[in-house]
Amino acid sequence: MQALMLLLWTGALLGHGSCQNDAGGPEEGSPDPDTTGVPVEEEDPFFKVPVNKLAAAISNFGYDLYRVRSSMSPTANVLLSPLSVATALSALSLGAEQRTESTIHRALYYDLINNPDIHSTYKDLLASVTAPEKNLKSASRIIFEKKLRIKSSFVAPLEKSYGSRPKILTGNPRADLQELNNWVQAQTKGKIARSTREVPSEISILLLGVAYFKGAGFSTSLLAKGHSICFIPGQWVTKFDSRKTSLKDFYLDEERTVTVPMMSDPKAIIRYGLDSDLNCKIAQLPLTGSMSIIFFLPQTVTQNLTMIEESLTSEFIHDIDRELKSVQAVLTIPKLKLSYEGEVTKSLQEMKLQSLFDSPDFSKITGKPLKLTQVEHRTGLEWNEDGAGTNPSPGPHLTFPLDYHLNQPFIFVLRDTDTGALLFIGKILDPRGT
Ligand SMILES: *[C@@H]1O[C@H](CO)[C@@H](O)[C@H](O)[C@H]1NC(C)=O
Repeated sequence: MQALMLLLWTGALLGHGSCQNDAGGPEEGSPDPDTTGVPVEEEDPFFKVPVNKLAAAISNFGYDLYRVRSSMSPTANVLLSPLSVATALSALSLGAEQRTESTIHRALYYDLINNPDIHSTYKDLLASVTAPEKNLKSASRIIFEKKLRIKSSFVAPLEKSYGSRPKILTGNPRADLQELNNWVQAQTKGKIARSTREVPSEISILLLGVAYFKGAGFSTSLLAKGHSICFIPGQWVTKFDSRKTSLKDFYLDEERTVTVPMMSDPKAIIRYGLDSDLNCKIAQLPLTGSMSIIFFLPQTVTQNLTMIEESLTSEFIHDIDRELKSVQAVLTIPKLKLSYEGEVTKSLQEMKLQSLFDSPDFSKITGKPLKLTQVEHRTGLEWNEDGAGTNPSPGPHLTFPLDYHLNQPFIFVLRDTDTGALLFIGKILDPRGT
C-alpha cells in the first residue's frame, strides 16, 4: 500500500510535464485565462521576489550553457559553475550599448524579468549567496587589453553593483600573470592553485570571476581561466561513515562496469521523488549553509541523459524542490574527485552570443573597438565522507524500503536554496574522472 502511494504522489506531482515550462510556453494543466485570452500560469510567489526572479533567469542561462556543453561532449563528464559566467557577462553588459546589451540580456533571460534595475538586484543576489553563514566568497573581474583607457562612467557602476574594479593589463606577461594569480589567491584564500598558463597575448576583453565556499569535506573547486574562477567546498549535513565505504561496481553503460569506492548510508534520510515522464529517480541531499544537491538518476542504465537535460529549468527545479518527500533510503554515492578543463567560448557562441566575439558595441567602456576574445572554464570537484554531523535528525519521513544507488550515469544540480541560484551542475558518466 505504501509503495503504491509513493508512486502515486510522485507520479501526480512530477509526472505531468511541469518540466516543459520554459520561457514563454504556457504549461498544460492549470491555465488561467488572462485578459488577452492567452492562458497564463499563476506565478509562484517565490519568483515574485526580485532576487529569486533574477536567480531563476541567470540559472536558466546556466542550464542552457550546461546543455550546450553536454551535447558537445556526449561521452565525457561535464562540470560547470554557470553563476560565475553569468556574473561576468552581466557585469560586462554595463559597458554595452543597446544592441550588444540586449544580446547579453537575452542570453541571461533579463528580457523576461521586467526589472528596471537588474544590476542593483544582482548586487543583492551576490550579497545573498555570499552571506557569511553560507561561507561563500564570490568575486568577478573584467580584464582589458594592455594600456586601454576606460571611462569612469563604466567603472563606477561596475564597482557599485559587482564590487569589482576592472584590470588593465600592463603588457608584461610575467607581471600580468602574477597579478592575476595574486588576485585569485586573495579571493579564494589560496584554495586555487596558481596558474602557470600565460595570459593570452591577443586579449581584448577577458572576464574573471571567483567564488569560494569555506568548509571541509565535500569540496568543490572550480577554476576557470579567461572567464571565471570558482572554488566551492561545502559540506554534507550528515557525514558518511567511512567504514561503510567499499569498492563497488559503477555501470558505465549496459555492458561495462568499473570498480570505484562507494560511500554508503543504510539509513539515509533523503528527499525523494520518481518522475515517471523522465523515467528517473530524483533525490535531494542537504548541504550546510542553505545549499542542496539534487541528483537525477535514470531508472535504466544509460549514458543518454538528454531527456533529463532538456527538462532542466529554474522553474522545474523549484517544483521538484517543493514536491520531494522525505524518505529513509539505502544510499550509495561514489566518492568523487574530478577535474575538467575546457573552452566555454564555443558554447557561448552557440548561445546567441556570437556577436560579442565579432563586432560588439562596448562604446560605454572606451572609444576603441573591443570584443570578447577567449573564454575558458576549468573545474575540479571532490566529495568524500566528511560532513557537518553524525546524528541525522530525521523528522517526519516515510518509511519505505527504498534503494538509491548512484552507480550509473547521473546528473547533479547544486543550488542555493534561499534564492534558487544554480551554483554548480554536472554530468557524471564515469566517477573515475575523464
Ligand atoms: C538520446 O535520447 C533521445 C530521446 O530521449 C534521442 O532523441 C536521441 O537521439 C538519443 N541520443 C543518442 C546519442 O542516442
